Amino acid sequence: MVFPGPYFSKEKILAGIEQTMEKREEAGEYHSKDFEWEFLKNIVENDPSLSHHLHHHHQNLSKYLPDSQPWQDFHSRHSSGKFFKERRYLLKEFPELVSCGENSKLLEIGCGNGSTVLPILRGSKNITVYACDCSSDALVRTKENIDRAISSVDNFHSFCCDFSTSEFPDWVACDRCRDKFMLNHSGGSESKHCIGGVDFVTLIFTLSAVPKERMPRAIKECFAVLKPGGLLLFRDYGLYDMTMLRFEPEKRVGFREYVRSDGTLSYFFCLDTARKLFTDAGFIEVELEYCCVKAVNRRKGKDMYRVWVHGKFQKPFSN
Ligand SMILES: C[S@@+](CC[C@H](N)C(=O)[O-])C[C@H]1O[C@@H](n2cnc3c(N)ncnc32)[C@H](O)[C@@H]1O
Repeated sequence: MVFPGPYFSKEKILAGIEQTMEKREEAGEYHSKDFEWEFLKNIVENDPSLSHHLHHHHQNLSKYLPDSQPWQDFHSRHSSGKFFKERRYLLKEFPELVSCGENSKLLEIGCGNGSTVLPILRGSKNITVYACDCSSDALVRTKENIDRAISSVDNFHSFCCDFSTSEFPDWVACDRCRDKFMLNHSGGSESKHCIGGVDFVTLIFTLSAVPKERMPRAIKECFAVLKPGGLLLFRDYGLYDMTMLRFEPEKRVGFREYVRSDGTLSYFFCLDTARKLFTDAGFIEVELEYCCVKAVNRRKGKDMYRVWVHGKFQKPFSN
């Protein structure tokens, strides 16, 4: 097996994978397991040319703790929204979003251009969707994409928030406080007594963008905003995903943590790390698995291995 090196155009590789994924979606294949993750692990961990991805300690490793500025810059640069792509598989991966009861509430964290909120708003009439991002440009783009795709939605609210450094506003959890907030434009101290919460939190390719050492705090915020019994739906980059192995050694800023040339971060999760992060915050593991997709670059005849982590975690009904 040969891993795509720098001589491959990134756009071509990604386009090939997109095509494969689209075909999958059309064929109704979502829980993809083209190969066993251990198969890829065995190859990667025995390939000396990839050894720089494996070690805990690395002499060039420096602490890199960006704020949300690189993401804000990313969204202001990509204002055309051409990166927008609806995640059509989402409701199949997380069917509880369709079967949920009336008046359910969902918080999508790191909504980007709306790739996740759009299929949810489309497919699930019962849900009120809250969305946040650390970039206000992203929120504008999300609203534009919703308005373009679905006319007049009254069950969507968005707000700016960096969930790795701040708490969610109380009104996310409580209708009464939200109404008050909309009237006064202030949270009000009485909202501190709220015991409400959202039924779902979605973290779709957002946690990997948070510095590893801030993840525990960020996940505690997710826990706090959920109702007892509420679900956190998680999908993100998996360990030894092709995009991890393409990072140059000097892009490594921590164990399994890399910085892109635009300054945004990307962490790659193994199941144990994801499990520990969520259970340490108090969640119960409901589902946790790798999603492994093999795409073929026809022109070069090379296999490309994509790995994602799919997870569902529940806030217990009682402590
Ligand atoms: C890869 S995008 C994922 C977007 C969306 N969830 C989706 O399904 O396509 C990650 C998003 O998280 C946002 N983000 C990164 N760090 C964040 C933070 N600490 N707080 C809130 N949003 C953040 C970025 O601005 C970006 O829009």
